[in-house]
Amino acid sequence: MKKAIPLIFSQCLTHLLITFALLSQTVMAESRAKTVLVTCGSQLEHNTTIFVPNFVATMEKISEQMRSTGFGKAVTGTGLDTNYGLAQCYGDLSLLDCVLCYAEARTVLPQCFPYNSGRIYLDGCFMRSENYSFFNEYKGPGDRAVCGNTTKKNSDFQAAAKQAVLTAVQDAVKNKGYARGRVVVSEAANESAYVLADCWRNLNSQSCKACLEHASSSILGCLPSSEGRALNTGCFMRYSDIDFLNKEVENTSSRGE
Ligand SMILES: *[C@@H]1O[C@H](CO)[C@@H](O)[C@H](O)[C@H]1NC(C)=O
Ligand SMILES: *[C@@H]1O[C@H](CO)[C@@H](O)[C@H](O)[C@H]1NC(C)=O
Ligand SMILES: *[C@@H]1O[C@H](CO)[C@@H](O)[C@H](O)[C@H]1NC(C)=O
Ligand SMILES: *[C@@H]1O[C@H](CO)[C@@H](O)[C@H](O)[C@H]1NC(C)=O
Ligand SMILES: *[C@@H]1O[C@H](CO)[C@@H](O)[C@H](O)[C@H]1NC(C)=O
Repeated sequence: MKKAIPLIFSQCLTHLLITFALLSQTVMAESRAKTVLVTCGSQLEHNTTIFVPNFVATMEKISEQMRSTGFGKAVTGTGLDTNYGLAQCYGDLSLLDCVLCYAEARTVLPQCFPYNSGRIYLDGCFMRSENYSFFNEYKGPGDRAVCGNTTKKNSDFQAAAKQAVLTAVQDAVKNKGYARGRVVVSEAANESAYVLADCWRNLNSQSCKACLEHASSSILGCLPSSEGRALNTGCFMRYSDIDFLNKEVENTSSRGE
């Protein structure tokens, strides 16, 4: 244990240095690495001495997968101290932005200690950790919408946002769980409704559809607010009057490092 603490500390430090190095290269990613909500479970870890290293190992395994695919799933340990983890970046993030978002998720989620589970929703990615296999779950009592309260929009925006959200659900179900969209409110005023929909990639299309249908009806309840986010067990959705989406990912050069 005496050796483990400096090791974890130095890993964190390396981590922070990498994060700062990356941040100086990209500015756009910053806003997408912002935390929307963290929720922690209420069960204490069974045996901290075993659970914590399992949790750290799971996060490290997921980190490797995130760097190459933007999605990661891992299991470490046995019995009551087994740690199950899942993380995903939303579909419009580049792999570089994804690494930044996951770095933030991984820094914040350990605040759930000494509880044995937690979820973090950021604007660009999601992560969840439990001591049981939750991989097929797509709904739960914690599912909710978080509405932005900055501006109340007129009925034209509301109609556009509704169309954008409902279209994104249909598109995502046909497109491996991911869709982005924009519906113009007024060309003259240069105003649009922007939307993003994303299911966790391990879900089948039925679960994805059910999750997005629930998510869409909950964020439509945010109207007339200018912004709404759905934080669900199996998916994430957001609409806004601001263009929060990353530019379409370039396809020509090789991705990753
Ligand atoms: C998860 O941890 C709690 C608390 O230590 C324990 O009661 C429960 O049985 C564990 N669940 C599994 C599936 O091991
Ligand atoms: C936790 O696990 C460690 C390592 O196996 C063991 O030495 C310790 O007694 C356990 N603690 C509890 C409270 O079971
Ligand atoms: C609305 O937003 C303002 C600033 O963004 C915040 O101070 C206030 O608490 C929010 N009100 C509600 C009801 O969320
Ligand atoms: C329209 O809005 C977008 C995003 O809000 C902005 O980038 C663009 O410059 C605007 N175009 C005009 C002509 O104002
Ligand atoms: C990437 O390139 C492949 C092959 O050139 C093409 O089929 C695919 O649609 C492209 N994807 C994007 C996102 O442009």
